[in-house]
Amino acid sequence: MNGFYSSERVRIDLGDERSYHIAIGTGLLAEPAAFEVARAGSAALIVTNTTVAPLYADALARALAGRHSQVARLVLPDGEQYKTWDSLNLVFDALLGGGFDRKTTLYALGGGVVGDMTGFAAACYMRGVPFVQVPTTLLAQVDSSVGGKTAINHPLGKNMIGAFYQPLAVVCDLDLLKTLPARELSAGLAEVIKYGPIADMAFFDWIEANIDALRACDATALAHAVQRSCQLKADVVGQDERESGLRAILNFGHTFGHAIEAGMGYGAWLHGEAVGAGMVMAAELSRELGLVDAAFVQRLTGLIDRAGLPTRGAVIDADDNAGRYLQLMRVDKKAEGGEIRFVVIDGPGRAAVRAAPDALVRQVIDRCCA
Ligand code: NAD
Ligand code: GLY
Repeated sequence: MNGFYSSERVRIDLGDERSYHIAIGTGLLAEPAAFEVARAGSAALIVTNTTVAPLYADALARALAGRHSQVARLVLPDGEQYKTWDSLNLVFDALLGGGFDRKTTLYALGGGVVGDMTGFAAACYMRGVPFVQVPTTLLAQVDSSVGGKTAINHPLGKNMIGAFYQPLAVVCDLDLLKTLPARELSAGLAEVIKYGPIADMAFFDWIEANIDALRACDATALAHAVQRSCQLKADVVGQDERESGLRAILNFGHTFGHAIEAGMGYGAWLHGEAVGAGMVMAAELSRELGLVDAAFVQRLTGLIDRAGLPTRGAVIDADDNAGRYLQLMRVDKKAEGGEIRFVVIDGPGRAAVRAAPDALVRQVIDRCCA
């Protein structure tokens, strides 16, 4: 296979026939063999958006042409604010209107927004059709395309309507990251950095040493970041696919981050930016709980800053900022009986899920918000 990094394949082992591979390499979009997992002769629908379609939809359609009887495409509006029922319905309109049957394969060509929505559409259409993730952002390559979480947003909460539904395969072509704006690359680095404090401080050391190369889109550095992130995520998802416990650690920084996204209005802050500031807040909370020291929080904050991400939370309500955070965080999926549960760092490289007194959380929010 041209340009295929055959050594860079990560397996998501779910213990049954739903297990699949993540292919990580260059030139994959031009390589029909990278997509051979889909049922030969079936129809295909590429779901993408107005930004990604002109860049990559033709190349993907060419790669799929020999395998599928028909390759159609649907171009959705671009943006987190369109991760909605309306956009989801556009996918169903295209599928039903085009007479697509239950053997149809959906291809999610885009970042996490397209990936999450396409996956949810695949989970629902005719009670489930196969889909393949072709992530085009760093964030999607290191996190959202892997592990089968699919969703749309609700005005009252982020990713609140969705399903666990695994793709047939994930194809990460690193070449696609060359067109990614710098701000989006930084947003993806938030999810790369996340894996260090929760699971692998040696990887954290490596990110610190290579952050400039990553921001400069150095191919070797990006390949390692994607491969290691996917491996760490695969290890967690393989143990706890449906987040009955361990998988929650992948949400480090997300409880505060989701409140920022919903509180500011979806799209105002990028998901990765909200996670960056959210990780600082979660680390501060960990310090308040006596689990890590100030030097650790400072080190993490320094790396988030060097990644080009915000290290201060947003003010989402001028009158009662902490109160609004608490209100939004109570609808977090990890909350139980109205009690918010936070992913905290329980010593560098180890995460835990804990409740914390409201008064303490308020202090952290007051201290961390601009
Ligand atoms: P995104 O999908 O909005 O993409 C970011 C922007 O980059 C968009 O404008 C997009 O059109 C553009 N873009 C995409 N690929 C490009 C390319 N190669 N070149 C130029 N522009 C390109 O955002 P994202 O950061 O990829 O994903 C964020 C979403 O992922 C959020 O909705 C978040 O909730 C979700 N998410 C899901 C999971 C999961 O496990 N399912 C995990 C993390 C995040
Ligand atoms: N991004 C968090 C998870 O997949 O569980």
